[in-house]
Amino acid sequence: MRELVIKDLHATVEGREILKGVNLTVRQGETHALMGPNGSGKSTLASVMMGHPSYEATSGEVLLDGENILEMSPDERARKGLFLAFQYPMSIPGVSVANFLRLSYGAVSKPEEDDPEPYRKKLTAREFRALLNEKLGLLKMDTTMLSRYLNEGFSGGEKKRAEILQMAVLQPRFAVLDETDSGLDIDALRIVSEGVNAQRDGELGTLVITHYQRLLDYIKPEFVHVLVAGRIVKNGGPELALELEQKGYEQIIKEYGGDDVPFEPATAETAAATS
Ligand SMILES: Nc1ncnc2c1ncn2[C@@H]1O[C@H](COP(=O)(O)OP(=O)(O)OP(=O)(O)O)[C@@H](O)[C@H]1O
Ligand SMILES: [Mg+2]
Repeated sequence: MRELVIKDLHATVEGREILKGVNLTVRQGETHALMGPNGSGKSTLASVMMGHPSYEATSGEVLLDGENILEMSPDERARKGLFLAFQYPMSIPGVSVANFLRLSYGAVSKPEEDDPEPYRKKLTAREFRALLNEKLGLLKMDTTMLSRYLNEGFSGGEKKRAEILQMAVLQPRFAVLDETDSGLDIDALRIVSEGVNAQRDGELGTLVITHYQRLLDYIKPEFVHVLVAGRIVKNGGPELALELEQKGYEQIIKEYGGDDVPFEPATAETAAATS
């Protein structure tokens, strides 16, 4: 069974500790939601997992199928099957969406000799085009997007769709979606969610970072975690997200928000045991 295990992860940004011992396990086929107030460290966690150079993991581990990915370059992590949809996708002027997707797919795909059952095998130009068309259809996206420069002048919602198109093309084993719902209109939210759901085939493990229940109405998580001040302070099932929607974070912040609160970090295991 494949799994992504975050173990007592500490991380700093510009010398300030943001993550203070995060524990979280996502197994293949599972969908987890990560919630928490602004500035609690959700995007920092995503960036550390992908190897963003501004974020330093100071201790702990992130194990993908038993291997510590913190020692790998970002492209090695992507080849291992990790994918991150950014909260704020960057634009790359001069690189069209089609070229970007072709190059990124090429970078993570493997020749059959290397792997008897490659899940992302090398494709011919024609095969890749077919894959791209299939995924565009899945996300109800127009082919005109392909010739535009990546994210250049894209609306907020178009950027998010382009992120999910990238995910659909790359077919990761583990995906971290950082506020993919923000900026989407009601129809786009449904289409993008359906696009993600279509990829939930029992193989994919997903960590969905969001503030809102309306996304979780579509992408239904089995586990919900709450990050406050760099630690996961609460684990539960879908009912936890509904409870937060009603009550907000005030009580949780009061309980766990301070820096000097002695705190025993919870794990996905303890959550599973209590739910
Ligand atoms: N590159 C950076 N430089 C300086 N500070 C940073 C950087 N990235 C994150 N931080 C700080 O780390 C803290 C956590 O930020 P992070 O973006 O992880 O929060 P978040 O939980 O994703 O919040 P939101 O819900 O608003 O997206 C914040 O105080 C933020 O200002
Ligand atoms: Mg964030």
